[in-house]
Amino acid sequence: MKFFLDTANAEKIRAAVELGMCDGVTTNPTIIMKEGKEHKTAIQEIAKIMKGPLSVEGVGQTAEEMVKEGEEFAKWAPNVVVKVPMTAEGLKAVRMLEKKGIRTNVTLVFSASQALLAAKAGASYASPFVGRLDDISEDGMALIRDIVQIYKNYGYKTEIIVASVRHPIHVVEAAKAGAHIATLPADVFEKLFKHPLTDKGIAQFLEDHKKSRK
Ligand code: E4P
Repeated sequence: MKFFLDTANAEKIRAAVELGMCDGVTTNPTIIMKEGKEHKTAIQEIAKIMKGPLSVEGVGQTAEEMVKEGEEFAKWAPNVVVKVPMTAEGLKAVRMLEKKGIRTNVTLVFSASQALLAAKAGASYASPFVGRLDDISEDGMALIRDIVQIYKNYGYKTEIIVASVRHPIHVVEAAKAGAHIATLPADVFEKLFKHPLTDKGIAQFLEDHKKSRK
C-alpha cells in the first residue's frame, strides 16, 4: 500500500520522506491556504523534497479552464498530477489532459458511480472522500470496498486514493479493502506509529537494563 501525505507542509513531508514512508503528496486549495505560501512556490518546494506523484488542484470550472490550469501546473514540476473535480466538465478535462500525457486525479468522489465514471474517463487516480461521508452518517469505507471490487471486475488501471482520512482505523480499513493508496494528514501519519504498550515496554526494558548486574 502506498502512503501519500495530505499536506503542503514541507517539514512534515521531509520527515516522512526521510523515513521512506512518503510515496506521494496531495494538496487542495485549503491545504495550500493553511501554509500561507503562494501556490507555485509551495508546490515547487514540495517537488524538491519528494519525487512521487504530487497532486495540484485548481479552480477552473469548464474543461477548457481545467486543461489550461493543468498545463500550467505540469510546467511547475515533472511529478505534478492535476486534480479535477468529479463533474462532466472535469471528466472531459481528464480525457484531454491524459491524452497530452498529464496525469489526473479525480477529486470529490462520493459514490461508486462517480468512481466508475472517473475510471472510464481514463483518470490515473480517483479520490473518494471517506471522512466527509462518515461526517454525514454514510459509510465511507463501504464505498472504498465497492470501488475496489468494481475496478477489479474490469481491470481498470485507475488507482484509488482514499482521501479525507481522519484516523488510523481509516488507514487500516483502506488497506484491508485493498485500496492502492491512502493520503494521510500529517497527524494521522504520526499516529500510525504509536501504541501505549510500545512506550510502556521500552520504558520497562530501559529500567530493567539499569538494574541488571554490570
Ligand atoms: C485530498 O485529496 C483531499 O482533498 C483531502 O483528503 C480532503 O480532506 P478533508 O475532507 O479532511 O478536507
